[in-house]
Amino acid sequence: MTTFETIIYEKDERGVARLTLNRPEKLNAVNLAMRDELWTAFEAFRDDPDARVLVLRGAGDSFCAGADLSEFGTAPSYVAARRARHERDLWGLLLHLPKPVIAAVHGYGLGAGLEMSLFCDLRVAADDALLGLPEVGLGYIPSAGGTQTLPRHIAPGIALELILSGEPIDAVGAYRLRLVQRVVPRAELDSTVDGYARTLAEAPPRALSAAKEAIVRGLDLSLREGLALESRLALALRIGAT
Ligand code: COA
Repeated sequence: MTTFETIIYEKDERGVARLTLNRPEKLNAVNLAMRDELWTAFEAFRDDPDARVLVLRGAGDSFCAGADLSEFGTAPSYVAARRARHERDLWGLLLHLPKPVIAAVHGYGLGAGLEMSLFCDLRVAADDALLGLPEVGLGYIPSAGGTQTLPRHIAPGIALELILSGEPIDAVGAYRLRLVQRVVPRAELDSTVDGYARTLAEAPPRALSAAKEAIVRGLDLSLREGLALESRLALALRIGAT
């Protein structure tokens, strides 16, 4: 187990890694320190051949209440934030991790919290989850990918409505939109997600990785290019298996 200032990273003997956002007193708001530590942990997970599945979760009452508002609007921090984003494409790193990532969302999943989960492969919500993108009401727009990822997960018109209104939706509403794949009682969130993670950890890792790459990269391609990508990945797997 590695304890950072703002996150905890641990891995069990089955290859399930758990990354816990750990600023519970601030509802796990993402500050610059957390961005740096997430970068380190995502890289560690990516490069560790024994780590097969990542679970992303939040400590305390919530998954994550968004970007740290206390770092907004101050000149040095604004410049630092811009530099950090430019130098390190944190969300791109998360999106392209070559292994499955599951978000376990409870309590508030707002702004960058929801956006972070949208880069994961599976989202399991506790029945107390409240999900939304409030940025427009604050005079910003979602900038951890939300304007692009949300309409790729749900109908674009509904994505527009959620982003323009900033109104959060509850777990059942999110499930109806297929924004999350499952809703479970709060007390069962960790066990449900662990069960998912263990099942995936036992699946052939190269096939999991190829399937994920085909889908994630394929979404940015034309059908013709996507089919070519699928063929290449399938061939590489067959060659690797012989
Ligand atoms: N950035 C920084 N701090 C945050 C935060 C954020 N995004 N969200 C919550 N916090 C902090 C609060 O300032 C408070 O800290 P304090 O005890 O030192 O004052 C602590 O987390 C608990 O939050 P609090 O507001 O007291 O809890 P609540 O249950 O009354 O309300 C929310 C919860 C989520 C409705 C409210 O905290 C909120 O609106 N947060 C901002 C959400 C947001 O706009 N996120 C998108 C940012 S782009």
